Parts: sequence; structure tokens; C-alpha cells
Amino acid sequence: MASSLWTLCLVLISLVSVAFAVAPRRSVDVPFGRNYVPSWAYDHIKYFNGGSEIQLHLDKYTGTGFQSKGSYLFGHFSMHIKMVPGDSAGTVTAFYLSSQNSEHDEIDFEFLGNRTGQPYILQTNVFTGGKGDREHRIYLWFDPTKAYHRYSVLWNMYQIVFFVDDIPIRVFKNCKDLGVKFPFNQPMKVYNSLWNADDWATRGGLEKTDWSKAPFIAHYKGFHIDGCEASVNARYCATQGKRWWDQPQYQDLDQAQWRRLRWVRRKFTIYNYCTDRARYPQVPPECKRDRDI
Ligand SMILES: *[C@@H]1O[C@H](CO)[C@@H](O)[C@H](O)[C@H]1NC(C)=O
Repeated sequence: MASSLWTLCLVLISLVSVAFAVAPRRSVDVPFGRNYVPSWAYDHIKYFNGGSEIQLHLDKYTGTGFQSKGSYLFGHFSMHIKMVPGDSAGTVTAFYLSSQNSEHDEIDFEFLGNRTGQPYILQTNVFTGGKGDREHRIYLWFDPTKAYHRYSVLWNMYQIVFFVDDIPIRVFKNCKDLGVKFPFNQPMKVYNSLWNADDWATRGGLEKTDWSKAPFIAHYKGFHIDGCEASVNARYCATQGKRWWDQPQYQDLDQAQWRRLRWVRRKFTIYNYCTDRARYPQVPPECKRDRDI
């Protein structure tokens, strides 16, 4: 009897801890001011519903952006974004994490606009110890200007995963054992911005921004951040191993996620640096784990 009570007790305890480990994912309602502040061109940010939604405006004078209040070592970060509609050629909408020091780490989502009716490109990149040049480019399976979609980064000691509406579109595994640096000891802030990049963004810079269509407006909501907050100089995370995104089930994708990632890669890939032999005659070491998944 005592032992079955004890068993019941253990079951209850583990249920509770799983509930905490799997964490609240209802992120859509987090207001701007909880996690973010404007970075530049404050007057080009417009607030709605008490800051639960905002717009970034780009015109020929300036773009604009905002950044997290905190710096983080690992975590789960997401943004609901509705991209600039219509003629967005030349514009870039970015959601990224960066440590912004000389040998910086960075995790990038960049959305490259296009002429009306032509598809956006989603470019992702990972910088470690100041080295980037790891671009992937995909088309999306929906029009990102029609509705909000959720873009997320999961970053722990084992992997960096890029998600679009909870579908993994890219995984960057920790390849320290192959001699590749992995971001683990430089706290990063989260940045969002909208700016003009018509020297490269659309068809390699051939399509220029049409300023007669300005202002270009991107919409944001769901300012979710669930990371280990660290001082800028911290070298490790005090809650290492204790948060939901740190748990064993987040050390790798599960079967269903691998299947979805394979689907994205098969159907929507435009470019992957790992298969660019002209640029990299010698395959970069981390590409071993970017195998034909
Ligand atoms: C823009 O549209 C053209 C033509 O469909 C396409 O080749 C290109 O990949 C699209 N996206 C960007 C960002 O250039």
C-alpha cells in the first residue's frame, strides 16, 4: 500500500515536471513592451492595441527596427510577422539574434521582398565566431503578406532550429566534434528590422525599390521570448539544462519533424551553401550533418 502510494506520488511528480518542461507555447499575445524596445527611427514604429501589435514603416528617408531588452544564452524566440504586401522589391524584413561583437554569433531570418505577385525568398544564415557564409534560401508555401505567420528559433546546446509555423525549415547541429564553432558562450539580443537593400535583395539587386509605393509596412505581434537571460558578459547560462527547450526531447527533431523538414527541403529549396561546389570545392565540415535529410 505504502509503495503504491509512493508510485502514485512519483507519477504525479513526473506529470507536473513534464507539464513545466513542455512549457507554455501560447505566445501570440505577448505585448511589445514586455520584451522589446525600439532601436532606431522611433517615429517609424506605430503601436496598436496597447502595443500588442506594431508596424514598421520604411520610406526613402529611413527604415526602422527594434531589439530585445535582454541578452540571452539559449532559448526559444518567436515573432508573428505579416510581410510588406504588394510591390516590396528591394526591401528586407529581418528577424535575428546577434551577439554584435567582433567575433560575433548570429542566427538570421531574412525575408527578401519582390515585385507584386512574385514570391518572397526566405534566407537563413548562421554565424559562429564571426564566420557566416552559410546561407540557405527557400520559397515559402504560402503568401507571407496575406496573414500573420509565426517564425521561431530554438537554440540550445545541441542544435539551432528555424521554424515557420512550427514546421522546421533548417537545423544547424552542434558540430564542435568536427571542429566547427557553435554559439554557446556569447549572449545574444533579438533584433527585428525593415530596411532598403535594393543593391542585393531582389533578383540579386536587379529589381530596385519603387519609392512611389512607400511607405512599406510590415506588421508584428506575439513578441515571445523564453530564454536564459544573461548579462552581456556572461559566459554560461545559470539555468543550463533546466528549461523546457533544454530537455532531451529538444536535443534533436522527432520523426515527424524530420519528415516535414525533408518536405520543405525537397519542395522549396532555392539554394543551400552545403551543395554549392563552385563556392566551396571542399565541403564545409558541418555539412556532414546537413546530410540528405
Ligand atoms: C522574385 O521573383 C523572381 C521571378 O519570379 C524570382 O526569380 C525571384 O527568386 C523572386 N524573389 C527574389 C527575392 O528575388
